[in-house]
Amino acid sequence: MTLSKGGVGKTTTTVNLGAGLALAGYKVLVVDTDTQGQSAYILGKKPVAGLTELLTGELPPEECIIPARKDLWLLSGGKSLAGIKRMIDRKSFGAEWTLSEALKPLDTQYDFVLIDTSPGWDQLIVNVLFYATEVLVPVALEVMALHGLSEFMRSLGSIQKYRKEARLKYIVPTFMDARIKGPEKLYSELKKLYPESTCQPIRYCDSLSEAPSFGKTIFEFAPGSTASSDYRALVKRIVEGDKPLA
Ligand SMILES: Nc1ncnc2c1ncn2[C@@H]1O[C@H](COP(=O)(O)OP(=O)(O)OP(=O)(O)O)[C@@H](O)[C@H]1O
Ligand SMILES: [Mg+2]
Repeated sequence: MTLSKGGVGKTTTTVNLGAGLALAGYKVLVVDTDTQGQSAYILGKKPVAGLTELLTGELPPEECIIPARKDLWLLSGGKSLAGIKRMIDRKSFGAEWTLSEALKPLDTQYDFVLIDTSPGWDQLIVNVLFYATEVLVPVALEVMALHGLSEFMRSLGSIQKYRKEARLKYIVPTFMDARIKGPEKLYSELKKLYPESTCQPIRYCDSLSEAPSFGKTIFEFAPGSTASSDYRALVKRIVEGDKPLA
């Protein structure tokens, strides 16, 4: 799952990482838990059903999960998830497990289930943390980046009291710009603070913001771009396991 504050590259990372893993031959399910429903847009899809219908039980899973690419499936988000949050709120017990109960019976069909979250903190994010085992946090290399990260670490800590399986596994620096000093400095600080989990950064790349309006992943839109090679490196890191950066 990807998690952290607004506009840091969560959705971009979830979708392109998913596409990269699928290209590498893994079966991947992307789950969008955001009311913005951006994942479907980036993948050029207009799903008629998604996570909402799965959680309400209105439709069977095979009608909620749509094929997006070879080896890549999507359980889309969107506005209707607002009603789901209210549904979760109204539960008198077990509210945190709503998402897990829906995904557990399906997830053995995939090698990776990647979950995109909305900015901020809500019931659905708590649900995601009661399901996920590995947390990936994109961190935009800008002022206040480390502040946002430490705030998130506190929230994660409070969840871990109840669910210790949810572990921070990857920190992915985004919007890296080597021409200016700030991001370089923040990247070094991240490596010092979190040597095990800090991954190679995703550089600032215009193609990443252009690709969605064509409904294309970075590998389809700009295979030769820096972003394409950066996301490929992230795929490699995740597939090959933990090799902390030098
Ligand atoms: N490395 C990058 N270089 C340039 N633009 C990027 C990069 N990563 C993401 N973007 C662009 O920045 C914007 C925000 O990215 P994205 O939507 O992935 O963030 P988010 O964390 O999911 O935001 P939200 O919190 O609103 O869900 C998008 O327009 C995206 O195309
Ligand atoms: Mg997003």
